[in-house]
Amino acid sequence: MDADATADAASVLIEMVFPELANHYGTLFGGHALNLMGKAAFIAASRRAGCDVVMAATDKVVFHRPVPVGHLLELTARVIRTGRSSLTVAVRGQSRPPQGGPPRHALDGRFEMVAVDRDGRPQPLLLGDKSP
Ligand SMILES: CC(C)(COP(=O)(O)OP(=O)(O)OC[C@H]1O[C@@H](n2cnc3c(N)ncnc32)[C@H](O)[C@@H]1OP(=O)(O)O)[C@@H](O)C(=O)NCCC(=O)NCCS
Repeated sequence: MDADATADAASVLIEMVFPELANHYGTLFGGHALNLMGKAAFIAASRRAGCDVVMAATDKVVFHRPVPVGHLLELTARVIRTGRSSLTVAVRGQSRPPQGGPPRHALDGRFEMVAVDRDGRPQPLLLGDKSP
């Protein structure tokens, strides 16, 4: 297992938190947050792997602060480790009003992704796109 030398490359996913993503407290529902984090991890892993990937596991996910309805959630996903067929992706989430203002660190998570062939079996990483 190697530390990824191109760990600076990142994929960014921005989502507007409309009411359909919220819980009854008027903040982003944790299940929807996990969905969005998984998408960000999938995008980063696919680009780096250069082939199909699946999610094998999630590591610790932490919700530091609630994300209010009406805010943007900006998810930054970075591949922080590559193995033979697996990758670890760290996803960090910040929220901010769409009108501007300082970002607030809202959540963190790690996802273990595995490159797969057409039959869904693990295959070596092709190490594709390394650009942000
Ligand atoms: C992920 C999956 C392809 C792994 O298949 P497998 O035959 O168990 O894999 P192997 O034991 O040969 O391991 C292959 C690689 O995956 C890694 N891996 C497998 N299971 C893992 C887990 N639970 N956590 C972290 N890494 C894992 C191994 O460490 C190995 O990494 P390496 O090649 O970099 O050394 C298989 O378990 C699977 O299809 N799971 C369902 C995936 C899914 O449906 N996800 C949700 C939708 S995307």
